[in-house]
Amino acid sequence: MKPKLIDQSFLMTEPQSVGLQITRSEGSYVFDNRGEKYIDFAMGWTVGNIGWGHEEIRAKILEAEGPAYVSPYYFYQPWAELAKLLVDITPGTLRKCFRATGGTEAVDIALQIAMLYKQRQKFVSIEGSFHGNSIGTISIASSAYRERYKGLLPNCRKISPPLDDHAADEVEAFLRKGDVAAFIMEPIICNLGVEIPTMEFMTRLRHLCTKYGTLLIFDEVAAGFGRTGKLFACEHFNIQPDILCLAKAITGGYAPLGATLITDKVANALGDDFTFWSTYGWHPLGVHAAIANITYIKSHKKTLLHNVSAMSNYFANRLASMPFKRLKSVHLKGLAIGVHFKKEGYGDKLRAKCQRAGLLVSGESSSLLMFPALNLDRHIAKEGLDILENCLD
Ligand SMILES: Cc1ncc(COP(=O)(O)O)c(C=O)c1O
Repeated sequence: MKPKLIDQSFLMTEPQSVGLQITRSEGSYVFDNRGEKYIDFAMGWTVGNIGWGHEEIRAKILEAEGPAYVSPYYFYQPWAELAKLLVDITPGTLRKCFRATGGTEAVDIALQIAMLYKQRQKFVSIEGSFHGNSIGTISIASSAYRERYKGLLPNCRKISPPLDDHAADEVEAFLRKGDVAAFIMEPIICNLGVEIPTMEFMTRLRHLCTKYGTLLIFDEVAAGFGRTGKLFACEHFNIQPDILCLAKAITGGYAPLGATLITDKVANALGDDFTFWSTYGWHPLGVHAAIANITYIKSHKKTLLHNVSAMSNYFANRLASMPFKRLKSVHLKGLAIGVHFKKEGYGDKLRAKCQRAGLLVSGESSSLLMFPALNLDRHIAKEGLDILENCLD
């Protein structure tokens, strides 16, 4: 009897699950249970930034000896090592880290800190955004969630793109009363098909947050670790947040882990008032994976970012010359790439066609999203984009 492609007898899968059973991954390739090979331009939606199955990192994780688990009651020296690494590579004066299991928890920690530190309950965020799956994080994300779930956190106001001078005026109108705890956004918004704010918006945003005593939270769960061509996306705008949320590519996919970083100023103001209990926050396996992965990224930063820039130009040129029939726009920053179509459903169709032809991309009904590995090889890039081009009707 042929094995079922996906056995859903006892398991709930994502509604958008594309019926692919992955059995192996290597570099920019994944393999399914029938032995078919796919070029991966989705990389777990910004998780596999340095490619799957990295030998050097795998070896470091295997070498690590230590306890199976450490309770948050105790101390584990590699926690301090990872925290220092994160503080070293992130911009500005971010100084202290909270341990989280993933992106949702990292963002929820940030919201809790903002409420406690500021003694305010209001948030402002970007319309259509996504920041995780807890009630707190969906409260500050897309307004669509409000229709679906009643009784989310009130007082979450939204700014709609384009993020320009006009949008900055709207931000000021919301912040002016001095009662907003935090403004939260992805500095390059991967969840809005790679929406890129203007420099003016970001500069004014930083200024307005400081002026009205609102904390600025950057969610770099998706955009962090080199994805957009800088190690962190906020570096494109020369501004730094008061709180930074990280996850996904922090371990390169070897284990789940998230982190929330705060500045000295926030840390001093919080004192011992805020603690966050996370049973599996920074589990030893995740910590060793993150240390190995970040150490690799740090020591290969120049080469990796150089490749991101070269590949980004290559994708930009290839996409510009592709005979798309229903193209609306292409948004591209480093290797965060969004291709938007005028017709609903066209992205779904094209994505399914690409998958059948051996290329994995992400996206939504009217868009394709690509997040290839930062060390993507030029030949594989060509092969993948050739498949995409051949799938156009
Ligand atoms: C920007 C952003 N923040 C937070 C999250 C939630 O992260 P996790 O799935 O690790 O909880 C995601 C997940 O896609 C994300 O893209």
